[in-house]
Amino acid sequence: MAEPSAKEPLTGAHFHKERKKYSPEEEAKLERQHFWRIIDAFRSYRFHVQEQVKRAERQFYSLSQRHQTMLPGVLANLGRIMQCAEHNQDVLEAIVHNSLHMFENVEYGEREDPRKTRPSSTFDMDKLKSTIKQFVRDWSEVGKAERDTCYKPIIQEIQRLFPSDQCDVSKVSVLIPGAGLGRLAWEIARLGYACQGNEWSFFMLFSSNFVLNRCETENTLTLYPWIHQFSNNKKSSDQTRPIRFPDVNPQSLPLNTDFSMVAGDFVEVYSEPECWDCVATCFFIDTANNVLEYVDTIWKILKPGGVWINLGPLLYHFENIANELSIELSYEDIRTAMLKYGFIFEAEKESLQTTYTENDCSMLRYVYDCIFFVARKPAELQFNGVEEAEQQLNSPPAAKSSRREGSNRLT
Ligand SMILES: C[S@@+](CC[C@H](N)C(=O)[O-])C[C@H]1O[C@@H](n2cnc3c(N)ncnc32)[C@H](O)[C@@H]1O
Repeated sequence: MAEPSAKEPLTGAHFHKERKKYSPEEEAKLERQHFWRIIDAFRSYRFHVQEQVKRAERQFYSLSQRHQTMLPGVLANLGRIMQCAEHNQDVLEAIVHNSLHMFENVEYGEREDPRKTRPSSTFDMDKLKSTIKQFVRDWSEVGKAERDTCYKPIIQEIQRLFPSDQCDVSKVSVLIPGAGLGRLAWEIARLGYACQGNEWSFFMLFSSNFVLNRCETENTLTLYPWIHQFSNNKKSSDQTRPIRFPDVNPQSLPLNTDFSMVAGDFVEVYSEPECWDCVATCFFIDTANNVLEYVDTIWKILKPGGVWINLGPLLYHFENIANELSIELSYEDIRTAMLKYGFIFEAEKESLQTTYTENDCSMLRYVYDCIFFVARKPAELQFNGVEEAEQQLNSPPAAKSSRREGSNRLT
């Protein structure tokens, strides 16, 4: 696990970038281009919203004069949306400013032409907008109810399995793959566990670095996460309502807390066997091309006797994406495979209703009917299935393309 750097405050999260093991020069170049592409997306946000607003204005002016006079509030609301976008852009600029040198061990150099910010794709803009909504889920008071349904069951299970009155929790290592903006990992670290978040998207990494390492005062920053939603608003003002963040001071972890974030693809970064007491996945396992690769990795990296806690749906992120491997298994299939590995199910719920970055004023709201389980890797591995599984761990994974923000599923 990464050690805190002497330069950073010990309470802050500590960012470390794992290099891909197979990285030739070409890989480094692609990674650099990718880094700058995401920076460009952050920087071109204002322009993107402006285009949307201009379009809405054009539509309005295409109405007959009679219809226009019946809608006295529409242009004023579009004006407010633009002001909110300007404000969001300021926050995004601050995030970018703090991202350029955020990794301890990797620098992405200068962009090839520093004057050029390339136009961003709709795909990148959608990712950026969902990242803004992720601030609601992870770091606002408004997101508390959602966190209580998604993160609390995981945290309670960790406390039940590794109680602080029976073990030294600072020696209990917990890994959170696909950590998003880091709140779940942070909450577990706050309880004294040695917790590491892993994340692969630069959108999320830039943003979590900002909130975890640069924000200190509660509820002093503002975002307008709903301005991009033009449908299903009951009131125009619903679209421009703010959220404040962070609802807690992320720097308030006790001084000796062991909390870190590691960037990179979960499967590539975590290859060292038997070093985690607990792996907790929340809305994560469906991000895999092949979920069994995640199961392989989790089985391998858990210590004997270690536990895997999972909560989430199976909204496969690579479903319907051209040229991508996407193995869409039912929970029943995954469960059967897990038993073959040797996992023992200790707790299981097949219906836990949660939301994901919900807009609680919207006329359209999604509910996920999630699965939740606690599965243990036995302390003593006794049967042939395990040996077979170990063998398969050493064979190369099925072909998949290089994974850089590659799926357009936004959960
Ligand atoms: C649906 S989000 C869930 C985030 C967070 N766990 C939560 O519940 O809010 C899935 C996250 O997994 C990340 N992710 C996807 N594939 C990954 C991989 N192979 N390695 C690490 N992170 C990955 C995504 O970037 C995204 O932030």
